[in-house]
Amino acid sequence: MKRIPVAGPWITEKEIGYVTDAVTNAWYGNANIYNERFEKAFADYIGVRFAITLPSCTSAIHLSLLAMGTGPGDEVIVPDITWIASAAPVTYVEATPVFADIDPLTWCLSASSFEECISPRTKAVIPVDLYGNMPEMEAIRDIAKRHGISIIEDAAEAIGSHYNGMMAGSFGDTGVFSFHGSKTLTTGEGGMLVTDREDIYQRSLTLRDHGRKPGDKMFFNTEVAYKYKMSSMQAALGLAQLERVEELISQKRRIFDMYKSRLADLSEITLNYEAPNTRNTYWMVTAILDEKSGIKKEMLMELMSDMNIDCRPFFHPLSSIPAYKNSEQSRIAQKCNRISYRISPYGINLPSGLRLQEEDVEYVCKSLKSILYKNMTKG
Ligand SMILES: Cc1ncc(COP(=O)(O)O)c(C=O)c1O
Repeated sequence: MKRIPVAGPWITEKEIGYVTDAVTNAWYGNANIYNERFEKAFADYIGVRFAITLPSCTSAIHLSLLAMGTGPGDEVIVPDITWIASAAPVTYVEATPVFADIDPLTWCLSASSFEECISPRTKAVIPVDLYGNMPEMEAIRDIAKRHGISIIEDAAEAIGSHYNGMMAGSFGDTGVFSFHGSKTLTTGEGGMLVTDREDIYQRSLTLRDHGRKPGDKMFFNTEVAYKYKMSSMQAALGLAQLERVEELISQKRRIFDMYKSRLADLSEITLNYEAPNTRNTYWMVTAILDEKSGIKKEMLMELMSDMNIDCRPFFHPLSSIPAYKNSEQSRIAQKCNRISYRISPYGINLPSGLRLQEEDVEYVCKSLKSILYKNMTKG
């Protein structure tokens, strides 16, 4: 029996055509044409002035922090529930990540917890558009503005999501995206930094090219910096995917609806939330089991795996994982972040790949229901 993968892209002849053209023609004087087209089309789609193609979203967060002048002694607030890449670049620049709690409905950064975490050392906040959902951006922006805190919006998982009519990635001083192979829009590996701020744009262009000012032909590096570039083959793939982005998002929403119609009647499961002022693009359909079910995510993933279904765990609180758990900030978070610690043990991401078929969803839901039923009758 085939395994059902947890994530995966949707590639068509269009993508193959663009990449073939790039590998054939995007060299010499044309080396940059696909990067330029992808950046321009992406900035237009998000509704911002500037976009920079990068090798990853992690590098986009790193550049954002550097361009804002974040360094030793600074604190950066990050939601406790996210992939480690949201926080790791804070450590790269020798600043301190501070872990705030999440909202029980959206699973994104809680505005009130963000405010409680602010100290005189807070330099920036990184709200994360988790699994394609949006945090309470109005409240977060108000708080950040009042305290003079910069915003890096981590929209790695949320291409095309909206909040109050504005696109994910357009709320902060910078917005950052991932095009990893598991994402809705992929370039294999890749990322994008978007901003309306000319100063951040120019600084990021220099920092990502070994400290060369744009246009430098004489190899006069002005400082020691980084090499963060996306290849033209990846940019070609990204451009083709972007031209299909609404089709990709519709498919993600269709997959969510297929799950919802089959699982909505189960009172022991909560699926992703979508607020009325929001478009959730459901990067990962996520099920949180009721604590009373007594089934934790590790066990559920194992049982699903026995049925040839690959799932992923809901992110563990960053303050609980070995990389961070002994820091002073983690000890505070372990005590304060009640929602993160309550939800995380019971959540899994269900198969959400773009090529998932209706019969796959049917099988996953049946399997999940049979696990729940067996456990209930045992209890
Ligand atoms: C929320 C979040 N932030 C950042 C990243 C990092 O993206 P990348 O792997 O492109 O560096 C990811 C990737 O999975 C992510 O999910």
